[in-house]
Amino acid sequence: MTEAVLDKRLIAQSFSRAASTYDQAAALQRQVGSNLLARLADGLAPRNIIDLGCGTGYFSRALASRYQQPVLGLDLAEGMLRHARQHSGEQRGWAVADAEALPIASASQDLIFSSLALQWCPQLQRALAEAWRVLRPGGCLAFNTLLDGSLDELRNAWRAVDDFVHVNRFMPLGELQPLLAGAGFARWQCEVEQHVLYYPRLGELTHELKALGAHNLNPGRPDGLTGRERLRTLTRAYEQFRGEQGLPATWQVAQIIMIKADGGES
Ligand SMILES: C[S@@+](CC[C@H](N)C(=O)[O-])C[C@H]1O[C@@H](n2cnc3c(N)ncnc32)[C@H](O)[C@@H]1O
Repeated sequence: MTEAVLDKRLIAQSFSRAASTYDQAAALQRQVGSNLLARLADGLAPRNIIDLGCGTGYFSRALASRYQQPVLGLDLAEGMLRHARQHSGEQRGWAVADAEALPIASASQDLIFSSLALQWCPQLQRALAEAWRVLRPGGCLAFNTLLDGSLDELRNAWRAVDDFVHVNRFMPLGELQPLLAGAGFARWQCEVEQHVLYYPRLGELTHELKALGAHNLNPGRPDGLTGRERLRTLTRAYEQFRGEQGLPATWQVAQIIMIKADGGES
């Protein structure tokens, strides 16, 4: 088994475990996905729709309601899909799938929507190529992803403790843009949003990340328990960021709309 496959198994396990707690902790995820939905063109009338990395299916249901079409929810984590199935109407389909190798026929979809899932792909360019392949000419890929700068307060605070990788790496905008440009789409736009959430204590942020399944799954993560002294050092380091509203956690989000050429454009 390759390292990439192993990583994906860990990602799927982590999100499956988080399925029952995800929705209560997902305020930012709701906001960011709703902002993406709002960016979809008014005239869009897709018939074949995929919610890629659908999680608990919140946006699958929103898409189905907006377009009055059944939506296919795809996710790496079976536990998430089980939860989505239990909380959604029966007409929708749900399937385990990897964004980097979609089990979907070429040129068969009108809209692929994907909120805060593709930052988990080790090879984003593969996911983009797969989206391009399965979209019909004129089809739309709408996705968002986390950028470098996200959770930097936590990343920096951990540096006071040790040299391990404690926070997932997110792609810099300068790395993302060439991938978007090279993905074969006729048109695309990418806008960056910054969100800052505030917490009274560090424990509330780390608890929320755990409830979301957004664990650190890097190969360089430390094994074993976090000792009391290390935690104290981490807390002290994070406290340096405290402002009037509490402890900040910054998220940098790229909101991206890409259109595959129809017959008339190249
Ligand atoms: C932060 S959750 C977002 C869920 C949902 N889109 C939302 O906004 O509420 C990320 C989801 O992406 C899924 N995921 C991660 N890597 C994936 C991949 N390679 N292919 C498909 N889904 C993936 C995870 O299992 C998880 O359910």
